[in-house]
Amino acid sequence: MGDAAVLALAPPFQWQHEFCCRAKRDFYPEHEWNAVGILRGDNLLREVFFETAAPRTANLVLGLEIAMGVGLLVGARLARKGRFRQHAWCQSAIVLLNLAVVVVMMIPSFRVHVLPRIPAKLGKAYYGLATTHGAVGTVTELAGLYILLSAGTNVLPEKLRITRYKMWMRTVLVLWWVVLLFGLATYTRWYVPHLFRK
Ligand code: HEM
Repeated sequence: MGDAAVLALAPPFQWQHEFCCRAKRDFYPEHEWNAVGILRGDNLLREVFFETAAPRTANLVLGLEIAMGVGLLVGARLARKGRFRQHAWCQSAIVLLNLAVVVVMMIPSFRVHVLPRIPAKLGKAYYGLATTHGAVGTVTELAGLYILLSAGTNVLPEKLRITRYKMWMRTVLVLWWVVLLFGLATYTRWYVPHLFRK
């Protein structure tokens, strides 16, 4: 029999899957079935964390962004301890590094994968998450740059400089983490399809 004929006779994947699971359940005694179930759970964990469909660049960006999110928290602690110079360096470096990552990696990806589908597909998690992430991310990055320019340079005229620094910095820190979580959700929706399989 040729390959095409074999493929045509093969049962659909869903049936194969159901048959296989039922066979395991009928075949193994209950305690052993539980062990199989646990093994399947292990597989799911492995699939979620190590077998994503993500390109290396996305994994690199993910790692960098998590490190930057934690770095901002460390920077905030420096301010609480009164080490303001180190605090300023830490937060400024992170805001600028993030600007580079957003401009080089995220905006081009957004333009190719998301923008052409707005507004038609905004209701779909794939596009909705990335759009919410991009919108709040834009506001947050601009707010971070505004703090940096106000506090660290004389570029802005006196009238435009921030006076309530604490309020601005705390708000940006919270927003940053909201954006980071939306970034994680976008990554999961885009590259970890196992989680979304029905
Ligand atoms: C504070 C600012 C931001 C943070 C902390 C942040 C964080 C993240 C994280 C953690 C990811 C997951 C890694 C990945 O999939 O590559 C991601 C992905 C993404 N972000 Fe952002 N982001 C920010 C701003 C923005 C902005 C301003 C835009 C667009 C206008 C944007 C668009 C995207 C897109 C399209 C992806 C998916 C990229 C891909 O995998 O191809 N992000 N972001």
